[in-house]
Amino acid sequence: MAMTRQALPIVWLFCQLSACLSAVVPDVGSAVSISSRQALNAALEAGPNRRMGFLSEANFNTMAPVLSKKVVPVYFTDTEELYKAVTSEDVLAALISGVPNKTMFSAFSSDLVSPRSFQMMPGSTTNDLMHAVDAAVVRTHNGGDLLRVAEANPPFEVTEVHTCRSLEPAKVPFPIASTATGLLKDVLDKKRLRVLAYGTPADKPDWKQDGNYEVDPPVGFWPEYMAAFMKEFRAAYGNDIQLERVWMKAGGTDMVLNGSIHMTEPYYIYENLHNGTLKKWSHKFSCVVMGYEQQFFSKRRAKVITDAVTSDAQCAAALKTCEDKQLMNRITTREELNSKLESGGNVKMGFLSQANFLSVQSMLSTKVEPVIFLSKPQLYEAVVNGSLRAALISGVPDRTNFTVFSTDVISPRAFQTMPGDRSVDLLKALDAVIVRTHNAGELLAAATANPPFQAVEVHTCRADNPGAVPFPAASTATGLLKDVLDSKKLRVLASGTPDNYPNWGQDGNYKATPMTGFWPDYMEFFMTRFRAEYGIDIVLERVWQTGTAGTEMVLNGTVHMTEPYYIYETLYKDLPKKWSHEFSCVVMGYQQNFFALKPAMDFTAAGPTCDYQLAACQGNTAQINGTKPTTKQPLNSNVVFGLPSTTSAARSHQATFLLAGAVALAVEALLH
Ligand SMILES: *[C@@H]1O[C@H](CO)[C@@H](O)[C@H](O)[C@H]1NC(C)=O
Ligand SMILES: *[C@@H]1O[C@H](CO)[C@@H](O)[C@H](O)[C@H]1NC(C)=O
Ligand SMILES: *[C@@H]1O[C@H](CO)[C@@H](O)[C@H](O)[C@H]1NC(C)=O
Ligand SMILES: *[C@@H]1O[C@H](CO)[C@@H](O)[C@H](O)[C@H]1NC(C)=O
Ligand SMILES: *[C@@H]1O[C@H](CO)[C@@H](O)[C@H](O)[C@H]1NC(C)=O
Ligand SMILES: *[C@@H]1O[C@H](CO)[C@@H](O)[C@H](O)[C@H]1NC(C)=O
Ligand SMILES: *[C@@H]1O[C@H](CO)[C@@H](O)[C@H](O)[C@H]1NC(C)=O
Repeated sequence: MAMTRQALPIVWLFCQLSACLSAVVPDVGSAVSISSRQALNAALEAGPNRRMGFLSEANFNTMAPVLSKKVVPVYFTDTEELYKAVTSEDVLAALISGVPNKTMFSAFSSDLVSPRSFQMMPGSTTNDLMHAVDAAVVRTHNGGDLLRVAEANPPFEVTEVHTCRSLEPAKVPFPIASTATGLLKDVLDKKRLRVLAYGTPADKPDWKQDGNYEVDPPVGFWPEYMAAFMKEFRAAYGNDIQLERVWMKAGGTDMVLNGSIHMTEPYYIYENLHNGTLKKWSHKFSCVVMGYEQQFFSKRRAKVITDAVTSDAQCAAALKTCEDKQLMNRITTREELNSKLESGGNVKMGFLSQANFLSVQSMLSTKVEPVIFLSKPQLYEAVVNGSLRAALISGVPDRTNFTVFSTDVISPRAFQTMPGDRSVDLLKALDAVIVRTHNAGELLAAATANPPFQAVEVHTCRADNPGAVPFPAASTATGLLKDVLDSKKLRVLASGTPDNYPNWGQDGNYKATPMTGFWPDYMEFFMTRFRAEYGIDIVLERVWQTGTAGTEMVLNGTVHMTEPYYIYETLYKDLPKKWSHEFSCVVMGYQQNFFALKPAMDFTAAGPTCDYQLAACQGNTAQINGTKPTTKQPLNSNVVFGLPSTTSAARSHQATFLLAGAVALAVEALLH
């Protein structure tokens, strides 16, 4: 799912014979290949072609929130037809489950991610097993198992979505076997872990690279991930613990919910419904294992420059060869970066802190050599002068001179509350608002209004019909929600102090009057919906705190909840927050970017004929002369992705969302 998130720099033209010759001065609007969701939305806004291809209305409905409202969906019955429609440009772009053929098409992220995790029954019976599973998941993440298993099963692509993260696994301990209770005790006594697997014993699924269970042993991403998971589990509890897959299609979920099956396989969808309401309200979830991200794709353009400017076929051929070489040197995805690191040469990458490196290390080739820089200008310079292969930055580097691509590591953000009965109604109300803001495209609206902010939609809740996610009735509200409604005040923990509000640029400037940026705008959308349900006189009161006092006030209910930008995956008192807090549906995710030097590929400026251009190309060995990266906004040098502090707020400047792959939609249709 790593894909280019910037428009291609050069003149990619569709060469339809006669059009080739008139293409020297490109019509940028129509000629530039679409390679990001932002570019796609701009093209949809501009028209005239606003058609996009989908294989079902359900697929379109899933994607609609991240697309311009001007989109005209067109439905196709099979993938071949869809490919043809993209090639003939009957449609501007399309969506399929899984990974489109990247030789033929320009594929790019939908910024919509479907997280997957182990799922269990609610209640205290699962507490110990949940902690044990979380402990094993964190260890597979830290051990790089996701990358290893994904790379062993091409074209599988994985996105890391972290609802738990600790560089010190000791802070996510396995419960002690001798005092284990509930389901964990049952697993250890009987020496077997019973896992709900989707299929029947006579008809096991073959999801290709995602997992082929028809062969013994099964192969593919999920079976191999489970092997890595079991290795951690057995290291803690004994090599004699068996994994027992219970193959069921219908009825399996009910057996998970009464504990007769310990948990689901990790590929079960998080965000869908069970018996008409959000699974989040009936199931418990392990740390997210990974996310599926859907990809849009559009026609890959043939590049044409030379025919129009020279009659010298030999020069034209040489120029093309040279340009192709430049193209080969481009790094526009994490997969390309890793293959370049693997193949040797320059393996140095730049980071602004060791913590930043560690936050993405599991997604990088083990050959990488991190170099820590103290300042951003030096980091840019070292990429420009070629001493670094690539670098990581918070925020959005200048895309004119750099290729910018996803780390595929996502930090989800959600409102956070105290655990227990008192927060149940408030959380349901929050979830009801969040699902409605998602469905109405309000994340896209808030992000678009605050460039270059980018949000990834990570869905732990999703319902096309918001009726499935009702607001609790005001008259029977309990706990924190009742307190909000009685006092007419929603008290929200905000990161800062009353005499020094934060200014995070496009993420949120709380010093301005009125406040500006993504998060204040999102909270406007949020409050509009909250007030529409519970009364226009409800006041949002920000309680400004830094340090742990604020978190304590959330955990004892004197503050109702945190702002939605608080990090999900960090620790509180040296243990995962997931073990001490409750979380609303994920609002969105931040995704960090790598960047690399973008080799020049358009040499038309060098002169009017091929000779000049060839000379410029051959002299230009992937170097950009005198590049001065300009950052559109000052970036904090202390930016660390997923700060480990308990109250760390949104510090990364680039937000991203999460979606689903080949297995995802196929399974989604079936798992309820
Ligand atoms: C992708 O398309 C190219 C060109 O049509 C073809 O050669 C290649 O086999 C295709 N790859 C896959 C994985 O289908
Ligand atoms: C759990 O649910 C299944 C399916 O509804 C049922 O057959 C089984 O008896 C139940 N087991 C327990 C322990 O309640
Ligand atoms: C499904 O939900 C309905 C109410 O919406 C409830 O009556 C029923 O018991 C639920 N079924 C299961 C299996 O939980
Ligand atoms: C490249 O730039 C970095 C950062 O300014 C500097 O430390 C390094 O010496 C430069 N290397 C070359 C080969 O110019
Ligand atoms: C909640 O925690 C805060 C901060 O620790 C404390 O000042 C306050 O007294 C606590 N309130 C209650 C009701 O426990
Ligand atoms: C960079 O610019 C200098 C001075 O303008 C020039 O001599 C040199 O050839 C250029 N290098 C490249 C790689 O274009
Ligand atoms: C990108 O590099 C070119 C060539 O060196 C330079 O002219 C331009 O100013 C740079 N763009 C930005 C935004 O820094």
